Amino acid sequence: MAPGAVPFLPTEEKALRESFVRDEDERPKVAHNVFSDEIPVISLAGIDEEGEGCRRKEICRRIVDACEDWGIFQVVDHGVDAGLIADMSRLAGEFFALPSEEKLRYDMSGGKKGGFIVSSHLQGEPVQDWREIVTFFSYPVRARDYARWPDRPAGWRSVVERYSESLMAVACELLGVLSEAMGLERGALSRACVDMDQKVVVNFYPKCPQPELTLGLKRHTDPGTITLLLQDQVGGLQATRDGGATWITVLPVAGAFVVNLGDHGHYLSNGRFKNADHQAVVNSSCSRLSIATFQNPSPEAVVYPLAVREGEAPVMEEPITFAEMYRRKMSRDVEMSRLKKMAK
Ligand code: SIN
Ligand code: FE2
Repeated sequence: MAPGAVPFLPTEEKALRESFVRDEDERPKVAHNVFSDEIPVISLAGIDEEGEGCRRKEICRRIVDACEDWGIFQVVDHGVDAGLIADMSRLAGEFFALPSEEKLRYDMSGGKKGGFIVSSHLQGEPVQDWREIVTFFSYPVRARDYARWPDRPAGWRSVVERYSESLMAVACELLGVLSEAMGLERGALSRACVDMDQKVVVNFYPKCPQPELTLGLKRHTDPGTITLLLQDQVGGLQATRDGGATWITVLPVAGAFVVNLGDHGHYLSNGRFKNADHQAVVNSSCSRLSIATFQNPSPEAVVYPLAVREGEAPVMEEPITFAEMYRRKMSRDVEMSRLKKMAK
């Protein structure tokens, strides 16, 4: 941890520390529990059925509509074992309740890949996010560094392993649907990811003395292909509509995954599928847990539209690698923060 950094979120204090206070334009507009049910909730039951009049066609239509309209939707009946989801959530909650010294055994600051960190994973942010996280690099399998996967509470490591495998299967199914919608064969998007990366990020947002001044996670789009988010029933995930003008709080649906299209998915669809802007807000009455599973292309995978529809131009000037796409995204963010600071 950097010298002088606050090791843990100061949850016992009555007022928020300056380092967490967001500019007025970034502060939450809608509370964590004022829910909207506008984001489609789609059952995947029957997605394997083939042939005329089968459920698959209807499911695919709904997924594609959701990606075109929102870039965000929820899936239920996804086939991930309910007991596994319950174990993953319970063990994650127990980890964050451990004493600080235990959690810091997995401290991932200082360039370590995976483990525990307080606040943002984006180093050098001027304002801190109100959260603690644990990150597991789960795919490709050779990238797994089990020494950096917390195994307190006992058994968490093997649960994470099974969880990440199950979510990889759901993600590939969804990418198959989107590939077909783009007029390509089912494996096209997965193949464009080369050796698909997967990162499981467990977010813990403690209760906060002044939630109206801060964010658990600031507004962003995910950089990768798609993200599957499991959230508890507290609420706090927010998405935008009306071109970013209105925020809504996504209704928590027990056992559902919220699916977000990321920048990579957006570019590969030539902008047809939206990359959803989203953020996480916190509250003063209880903590919140969410588990984001990011499906990303390999760093060397080429980012460029796979399908350009008639009458459209490609949304990108040239093919670039995913590593380069990510670098440009990060430097844009840094530049925006710099300009904002200068304008103050
Ligand atoms: C994320 O965007 O990675 C997490 C959002 C949430 O916790 O709701
Ligand atoms: Fe996100």
